Amino acid sequence: MKRTLVIVGASYAGVQLAASARELGFDGDIVLLGDEPDAPYQRPPLSKGFLTGSFAEERLPLRSQAFFEEEHIQWRPSTRATRIDRERKAVELRDGTRIAYDHLALATGARVRKLDCPGASHDAVHYLRDLRDARRLAGFARTARRAVVIGGGYIGLEAAASLRQRGLDVTVVETEPRLLARVASPWMSAFMQRAHTAHGVSFVFGRKVVKLHDTYDVVSVELDDGTRLLCDFVVVGIGVIPNTELAAECGLKVAGGIVVDAYARTSDPAIVAAGDCVSFVPHWAPAGSPACRIESVQNANDMARTAAACVVGRAEPYRALPWFWSDQYDLKLQMAGVNAGFTDFAVRGSVEDNRFSLFYFRGEALIAVDSINRPQDHMLARKLLANGAPISPAQAGDPQFDLKTLASDEQRVAQGAA
Ligand code: APR
Repeated sequence: MKRTLVIVGASYAGVQLAASARELGFDGDIVLLGDEPDAPYQRPPLSKGFLTGSFAEERLPLRSQAFFEEEHIQWRPSTRATRIDRERKAVELRDGTRIAYDHLALATGARVRKLDCPGASHDAVHYLRDLRDARRLAGFARTARRAVVIGGGYIGLEAAASLRQRGLDVTVVETEPRLLARVASPWMSAFMQRAHTAHGVSFVFGRKVVKLHDTYDVVSVELDDGTRLLCDFVVVGIGVIPNTELAAECGLKVAGGIVVDAYARTSDPAIVAAGDCVSFVPHWAPAGSPACRIESVQNANDMARTAAACVVGRAEPYRALPWFWSDQYDLKLQMAGVNAGFTDFAVRGSVEDNRFSLFYFRGEALIAVDSINRPQDHMLARKLLANGAPISPAQAGDPQFDLKTLASDEQRVAQGAA
């Protein structure tokens, strides 16, 4: 009898899960539910090229319409799942219809954290998560002159760079004392701040927005020390909240995210989950580490592959190495691994020329590498990290030391061992 895989969420994780399930031989029905009206699309360009105008909307779709047809994936736009009936194995939709499943996959992602102060629902306040947000913001940016960006994380900084490239005045307000505090080392934070300052961005650190005033089309952003920043519009990038409500309401284990094991299985064996909404203990974290969420395209895609393998009965533990990227001005920032708890680091390349990598160590072990405009270092770093290659800070910082040979040697060792 034909089995049905229902996937809730049609962004990176959902689409990849559908594609991987087919690739791995799932021959039942695949129903992919997405609550957005647009065909599944790439999100990273929204704060970059889409906002500067260099990346056309036609290039955004993740997969062509033909892909869904050929793979017999029933993608349903503007379709919101509102309840999961685990007992009867059915998903209920907003219009009351029910879809029975044999396997259910949750790829519900995350939504933006909203600014919570008087005036925050003003028209000139923008977020940047989905295509509708991005279209609206790009429209505003065309005629405006001054922007205040709230949040100095990835989204805030990418928006700041894109808006500067469009010639707008930009001020970034960040509550922490440094940029990218959640993910970057203080050294990288300082580098990014210098780069943005050189491009004319102003910064306010350690301050909170307490109120937004709107007077005659000018928005005044009031901070907790009484400062007021005038602008035409505000972009808010203060993090995301995982969409875990569906899972929690049907009694799945949720703790900061939908809890999954190493095989992307939730606490119900018929339900897998993948992507930004998921909380798990990564294989690369030190023993005893708490579960965490990884917000990235890499994690969504790779975890979706793990979840799909589970659906077709070929479960394999999730072993992918995390990596991230961000483009700001002419800087390509690529991060491999996670540098939390690093005890030492080495610089390779030229900081003055904006072409260098930072190698982070915890004790003797290499745990992460951030690269600026050194894509080859990034690719090699991914191999070195995946294979646990032995490298010292002195070697990493020595431009003569041959990373390529070490990476391929280690790969041979790893393959031989497997
Ligand atoms: N005012 C100012 N800054 C704030 C406030 C606030 N009220 N609240 C939080 N911040 C700051 C945080 O200190 C942090 O530096 O906003 C920043 C948010 O950064 P991220 O957590 O990286 O979130 P964001 O930039 O919104 O990106 C959200 O989109 O591109 C993806 O991978 C990215 O998953 C991330 C997501």
